[in-house]
Amino acid sequence: MTSFPDSRLRRLRGSDSMRNMARETRLTAKEFVYPVFVAHGHGVKEPIEPMPGQFQMSLDVLSEDVGEAAELGIPAVLLFGLPAEKDPLGTEGYDPEGIVQEAVRMIKKNHPNMMVVTDVCMCEYTDHGHCGVIDNGKVDNDQTLELLGRTAVSHVLAGADLPAPSAMMDGQVWAIRQALNDKGYEDTPIMGYAAKYSSGFYGPFRVAANSTPQFGDRKSYQMDPANARMAMREIEADIAEGADIVMVKPALSYLDVIRQAKDRFDVPLAAYNVSGEYSMIKAAAQNGWVDEKTVTMEVLTSIKRAGADTILTYHAKEAARWLREME
Ligand code: PBG
Repeated sequence: MTSFPDSRLRRLRGSDSMRNMARETRLTAKEFVYPVFVAHGHGVKEPIEPMPGQFQMSLDVLSEDVGEAAELGIPAVLLFGLPAEKDPLGTEGYDPEGIVQEAVRMIKKNHPNMMVVTDVCMCEYTDHGHCGVIDNGKVDNDQTLELLGRTAVSHVLAGADLPAPSAMMDGQVWAIRQALNDKGYEDTPIMGYAAKYSSGFYGPFRVAANSTPQFGDRKSYQMDPANARMAMREIEADIAEGADIVMVKPALSYLDVIRQAKDRFDVPLAAYNVSGEYSMIKAAAQNGWVDEKTVTMEVLTSIKRAGADTILTYHAKEAARWLREME
C-alpha cells in the first residue's frame, strides 16, 4: 500500500464523474418494497399523522397509488389491513373477503405486474393488539400457528405472491409452508421477518394500524435489541423452516445485524426501514433541521451498503422519484 504523499484519496473525489466511478453502492427503485395501509370504504385517503405522506387508503385510492408506484419502477408493495372490526381471534385477518384479500385481488387485476407481499400477523385484527392468540393472559405460540397458516393461505388464494410472517411465533415459517403445501402452493415463496426486534421505532406504525397492545408489550416474542447472535439463530431457524427470503427489522439501528446476516447466509436478505425511522426524518425535515432528500438517500444507501438486497421503505415513491431525477 502506498501512503501519503504518494497516495491522496481526495483524487477520487474531485468531480461528480470521478465520484461516480469510485462509487461502491448504487440504489435503484428495483430493490424497494412499498408498504401501504388499506382500509374499508370508498374515497378514503386518511393521513397518518405521525407519518407525513402516508395514508390509510380504500381500494380505489390504493389502486391509483399502486399505479404511481408501478410507474416509478417499484416492483412490489407490502399490504397491511385495517379491519372493519377487531376481535380476540382476529378473524378478519384470515377472512377470504377481508380487506387485505380484497386488496390483493384488486391489485392483481388492475396492476398485474406489481408483486404483492402480505404481512402475515394478527395484531392489526385482534382487539387486544397482540400478534397471537391469548390464552391465560399469555400469547400462545402453537395456537397462533394454525391461524397464521390460514391467513397466509387466504392471501395466496387471493393472488398474493409472497406471504411474510411477522408475528415472531416460533415455527411460523414451518406452519405456513405446511399450510401452503397442503393447498398445492409448493411454488409460493415465503419471506420470514426472521430477526424482528421489540422496537420503539414501530410507534408510528401502531398509530397507522391502530395495533398498540392493550396490555403488556411484545417483548415475550419480539427480540431483545441487545442481541445480535440470537438474530443469527432466528435467521437460521427461519431458513431451516423453509423461508426463501429473510428479513432484519428495523434497519437503521441494526445495520450490524444486516451485515452479519449477509456474510453468513446465502439467501436473499431484506431489511425493513420502519415507521419510526421514516417519521424521524420527516419531523426533522419539517423543522428545517436536516435536508430531507440528502438524509433519506443516505439512510437508504447505508441499508444497502450494510448488505440488504431488498429494502422495505415508506420512502419508496419519493426515493424512486429522486433517483429518476439524478439519472
Ligand atoms: C405486525 C407488524 C408491525 C410492523 C410490521 N408488521 C408492528 C409491530 O410488530 O408492532 C412494524 C412496521 C413499521 O413500524 O413500519 N406485527
